[in-house]
Amino acid sequence: MTQQSVALIGFGYWAPNLARNLNTLAGGRWRYLVELSAQRRERAAQLYPRVRVTDDLEEVLADPAVGAAIVATPAATHAPLARQLLAAGRHVLVEKPLALATADAAELAALADQRGLALMVGHTFEYVPAVLRMRELIEAGEIGDTLYLHSQRLNLGRIQSDINAFASIGPHDVSIANYLVGRPPQWVVAEGARYLSRQVEDVTFVTVGYPDGVLAHMHVSWLDPSKTRRTTVVGSRKMLVYDDMDADAKLRVYDKGADRLDPDAYGAWQYRLRDGAMQVPSLPMTEPLAAEVRHFLECVDTGARPRTDGWNGVEVVAVLEAVDASLRAGGARVAVASPARAVR
Ligand SMILES: NC(=O)c1ccc[n+]([C@@H]2O[C@H](COP(=O)([O-])OP(=O)(O)OC[C@H]3O[C@@H](n4cnc5c(N)ncnc54)[C@H](O)[C@@H]3O)[C@@H](O)[C@H]2O)c1
Repeated sequence: MTQQSVALIGFGYWAPNLARNLNTLAGGRWRYLVELSAQRRERAAQLYPRVRVTDDLEEVLADPAVGAAIVATPAATHAPLARQLLAAGRHVLVEKPLALATADAAELAALADQRGLALMVGHTFEYVPAVLRMRELIEAGEIGDTLYLHSQRLNLGRIQSDINAFASIGPHDVSIANYLVGRPPQWVVAEGARYLSRQVEDVTFVTVGYPDGVLAHMHVSWLDPSKTRRTTVVGSRKMLVYDDMDADAKLRVYDKGADRLDPDAYGAWQYRLRDGAMQVPSLPMTEPLAAEVRHFLECVDTGARPRTDGWNGVEVVAVLEAVDASLRAGGARVAVASPARAVR
């Protein structure tokens, strides 16, 4: 079987990381790079002289050897580019977020299903070993019932002007929370502020409600003194802390909790606090982006459905859209849309 060639679209801040992995994993299959900026094209051509660098997507689409494309352009261009690629019969990996509107995201997911193509979303954190282990621990019942989650994704920069902080980096927290809870969210409440920009929120505090009272609170900001990338999951038996900035202990499992005892003489409940051992599970050192690109190539080759498929992307975009509506409505509770998942 001849393996289909791949094109990379965009070569801005993030795409060079995809390019490095494509170069290693896809080798000669990486055939084109499409970029609108002449300066960025020149940079790509220097780094990867074997790859054909162009500003014309049509040139790529005219080449029948190209079976797949990776889209790493600004968020607003994701839906039109993915639509064009899928309509032209190409498998697509789109950087997060899949689209800016739920209707667009659902249309792309359905189009991929109809055409029997892989549509994958670059929810990189669903390929992070610590996050995979957290889900394994939750599924094995190790932490008891998942009660609530909270996450912080903070830094000074990179300040964007086209989308707010939550739409830019919050998709990571939503994808992590959706993956760990394992069920689609029902509602959101979002507060935010525009301290730097008049157009978009630099700081957001978002609460996402899941079935059975599970809450996920997400603090996302590009105006903060400390670079923080942390997710905490509180279960009825144990608690998990994933700290991506901690090189030695990315994941900690705490045997901590509060066990309810029989009521005292006055009928009040008593609690025994459990402050047991902390464990640091050993985790593989794989680069998440390498795992993501490898998975996409496997799906292209085998026809398998990507783990982070279009419908996974829809569930994240639906939260982003509800967050925007809540921000516009002064922090009102807004229901998260749940477009029907078509099955291939
Ligand atoms: N997975 C992650 O951890 C992660 C991290 C950072 C960024 N991202 C995502 O990567 C994407 C790109 O972000 P960025 O920060 O690199 O943006 P960027 O603005 O730095 O780069 C985008 C590039 O795309 C080019 N471009 C725009 N429209 C194009 C088109 N139609 N055809 C070809 N090239 C086009 C621009 O010229 C620019 O060089 C975004 O979706 C972002 O959310 C993902």
